[in-house]
Amino acid sequence: MIILGIETSCDETSAAVVSVNETSQEILLLSNVTASSLTLHAKTGGIIPEIAAREQIKYILPVIQEALRSTPGVDAQTIDAIAVTYGPGLIGSLLVGVETARTLSYLWNKPLIPVNHLYGHIYANWLTTNGQGPKTIDFPALALVVSGGHTDLVLMKSHKKLEVVGSTRDDAAGEAFDKTGRLLGLAYPAGSVIARLSEKGNPKAYQLPRPMHNSGDFDFSFSGLKTAVLREVKSLGKPTDKQITDLCASIQQAIVDILVKKTLDAAKKYNTKSILLGGGVAANKKLRDTLSEKSELSAVNCQLFVPEAEYCTDNAAMIAAAAYFQKKEIPWQEFTADPELYYE
Ligand code: KG4
Ligand code: ZN
Repeated sequence: MIILGIETSCDETSAAVVSVNETSQEILLLSNVTASSLTLHAKTGGIIPEIAAREQIKYILPVIQEALRSTPGVDAQTIDAIAVTYGPGLIGSLLVGVETARTLSYLWNKPLIPVNHLYGHIYANWLTTNGQGPKTIDFPALALVVSGGHTDLVLMKSHKKLEVVGSTRDDAAGEAFDKTGRLLGLAYPAGSVIARLSEKGNPKAYQLPRPMHNSGDFDFSFSGLKTAVLREVKSLGKPTDKQITDLCASIQQAIVDILVKKTLDAAKKYNTKSILLGGGVAANKKLRDTLSEKSELSAVNCQLFVPEAEYCTDNAAMIAAAAYFQKKEIPWQEFTADPELYYE
C-alpha cells in the first residue's frame, strides 16, 4: 500500500510517500520533502499565521510534486490513499493541506484519510528507513508527546485505545524552551538553540524550579520555570555569554528532569512495555540520552523508541504512518479542518 502524506499544521509544508507492507506492517519511508517559512518568523518571536499560510499556498504543489518525483515508480496513479493533517493547528495553515488533499482525492479518485497531528507525532516511531525491517512496538505503550503546543503522556493499550494520562496545565515543553529563550534574547524557536548552547554550559549553575515534580500525578506545569528565568535575567542585568550558556543548560536540565521523572513514573504505574517519544522537543539530545540511560528504564522492563530527529519535528512521513494504523477514510465532500482537535 502506497500512502501520500501531507502536513501543513504550523509553519511547515511537507509531503511524504510511504510504502506499507501489510503482512509485516513495516512502514517504509520512500520520500519526505519539507519546506519551512521559519526564517520569516525567527525575528518576531513566534509564527505569524497569515504569513505562514501564504507561504504554504506557494509551497504545497511543488512539495507534493517533489515527494512523488523523488520516489521512482510512484505517481498519482500508483498511490493508494492520501493522508492529511486536519488538526490541531493554525486554521489557515491546516486549510492549505486539507483543501489540497480534498482536491487531489476528487481528481485522482483516491481515498482520503484525515490524520490527527498529535497521533502523527506518536506514529513517527513506526517509520522505518531502508533495511531496518518492521518496528515491533509492544503494547501497552506510553507516548510522551512534547511539541510547541503540547505536552501529553498518552497510554496506548492498542492502536485503537488511547488514553491521555497527563498533560500540561499551562505552557507546553516546547513553549517553555521558546519563551525562556526569548527572555535570553535567542531567536525563535529557541529549543534547538538552547540545546546547542547548553553543551558549553553548567546545568547546575542556576537553581531553577521543577514545578509539579512530586505532584503525584502525571500533569506538567512550566509557567513557574519561565517566571524563575525572568527573575534571574532581571537580576543579571545584561547577562554575559557564559551566564547565558549556564542559564540555557540549567533550563534544559530542569525541563528534562520533569519530563523524564513523569514519564518513568507513568511507565511504572501502567506497567508499559514500550516508551515512545514524539514531537519537536523529542529531538532534544539531552532528553533522549537521559531517558535511555536511566536505570529505571531497565527496571520497568521498557523498551525506548525515539524517531530520528528530523521526524520528531513536523513532517508528513509521520502523518502517512499514522494514517495506515488509524485507517479512517472520509469522503472528500464531508471533510474539513479542526484547529482545536485533541486526542479522540
Ligand atoms: O513538533 P514541532 O515541530 O511543532 C509543533 O507541533 O509544535 O515542535 C516544535 C517545538 C518548538 O517549541 C521547538 O523549540 C522545539 O520543538 N524543539 C526543541 C528542539 N528542536 C525543536 N526543543 C528542545 N530541543 C530541541 N533540540
Ligand atoms: Zn508538531
